[in-house]
Amino acid sequence: METKTYVVPQDKLNEQLLYCNKIYDIWNSRGQTPLAYVETYGCQQNEADSEKIRGILCESGYRLTDTPEGADVVVMNTCAIREHAEQRVFGNLGALTHTKRRHSGQKIFLCGCMAGQEVVVERIRKSYPHVDGVFSTHHLWQFAEILYKTLTGKKRVFYTQDEAGSISEGLPQVRDNPLKAWVSIMYGCNNFCTYCIVPYVRGRERSRRSGDILAECRTLIENGAKELTLLGQNVNSYGKDLDEGLDFSDLLEQIAQIPGDFLIRFMTSHPRDASKKLFDTMAANPKIAKQLHLPFQSGSSRVLKAMNRHYDRQTYLERVLYAKKKMPDLVLTSDVIVGFPGETEEEFEQTISLIQQVRYDSLFTFIFSPRPGTPAASMDDPTPKEEKNRRFDRLCQVQNSISEEIHKSYVGKTFRCLIDGQDKNYLTARTEGGRLVRLLGDTNLIGSFRNVTITGSNTWSLTGELLEKE
Ligand code: SAH
Ligand code: SF4
Ligand code: F3S
Repeated sequence: METKTYVVPQDKLNEQLLYCNKIYDIWNSRGQTPLAYVETYGCQQNEADSEKIRGILCESGYRLTDTPEGADVVVMNTCAIREHAEQRVFGNLGALTHTKRRHSGQKIFLCGCMAGQEVVVERIRKSYPHVDGVFSTHHLWQFAEILYKTLTGKKRVFYTQDEAGSISEGLPQVRDNPLKAWVSIMYGCNNFCTYCIVPYVRGRERSRRSGDILAECRTLIENGAKELTLLGQNVNSYGKDLDEGLDFSDLLEQIAQIPGDFLIRFMTSHPRDASKKLFDTMAANPKIAKQLHLPFQSGSSRVLKAMNRHYDRQTYLERVLYAKKKMPDLVLTSDVIVGFPGETEEEFEQTISLIQQVRYDSLFTFIFSPRPGTPAASMDDPTPKEEKNRRFDRLCQVQNSISEEIHKSYVGKTFRCLIDGQDKNYLTARTEGGRLVRLLGDTNLIGSFRNVTITGSNTWSLTGELLEKE
């Protein structure tokens, strides 16, 4: 198993910045400002990576645009988590033949998790000749070099060889939202849940040094960020690969000590490593949001074992109970998979009963999708598709009514919310637990924490009004 981490040295990063300058010069000598379009699929980790891709593009003189039409560079930052996600990308990638025909010279890149799969890379080589470059997440820091090569050479560029997972500090970054920032604290995953492609495409778990994370958080807060979301596939195992003697709870506590009025969120927690220490730290610290995304995947201990999750139903429930006891206002969300190979009706019912017992605020629900190369893809799967769809619908129904009930219980209560944006005529805000609230108010409130009284609710969101009219 590859465990080596490649920390990209400063001189190699400087070389990349030189490539940015060279690209800038190419366009400058033509007297043109080139346009770049970046499309992001998948999870927050990809969102965070896309901010670096945009950073590199802007550093190279590109202006960002929101359509591939007329763009000089198109980057598809892809997700491989389910077959459907990949099909969407292949469909949209096919459509780019037209934009490229209409704009000769358009350079098209595919990166992200799909680029970490050999079968995908081969398919791009053979069937998508209009794609100019492919690079896996390990090679993201070399995007400027890859782009430069496609601009100056005739060959397509593939940076997809299976290398040690990289960590690169100090790449340029263009953040989507100055108020709410993603902060990756670690990359990759060691867990090898039997259904999951992530460890194969993102490599082994590797943590950024705490000094780098703290410095980034400090700068973000100084620049006006009000919410930091720490990202990792399994944040609870942060630091295990470092020699700093610091675990995730310690890191949280250190970030919370940064002066300023802000909230810390994090995802994703793996139930196996979600410790009492973590819940105690959350409970004790007002800057850590009382929000927990704790995927359970299945309510059946047999299925959990087959998934290689390393906890059973009982342990999961005990941890959730402890967390709820420590934090009575805790907002809990989770991921669940329906129709894992061999899941029986009775095992599915255990999933339903777990949902009813825990009562999540909301759930991300998925039907099992076999991922080539993962152990679950070759497990016996006798349950017909229609039956899985039926289970899925039933699960959604159960969850929707729980979400609706919980949201209804918010009505009349007042929450401190971050006003974070605008949606048509409304302001949008988030409670500390991360629930969406729509309210009327002046746009100059965006970026401030305000007390909001909840006046209405539905399954997915809340409406409210400002407590004090300011
Ligand atoms: N690291 C996170 C999950 C990241 S993937 C964790 O372990 O909790 C996000 C979610 O996608 C998973 O929690 C799982 O519910 C779902 N998922 C992953 N692989 C899947 C597959 N092959 N089929 C269906 N859902 C899947
Ligand atoms: Fe996938 Fe499991 Fe790792 Fe989450 S913990 S990314 S589900 S292998
Ligand atoms: Fe998808 Fe990769 Fe995230 S597979 S869910 S984008 S880690």
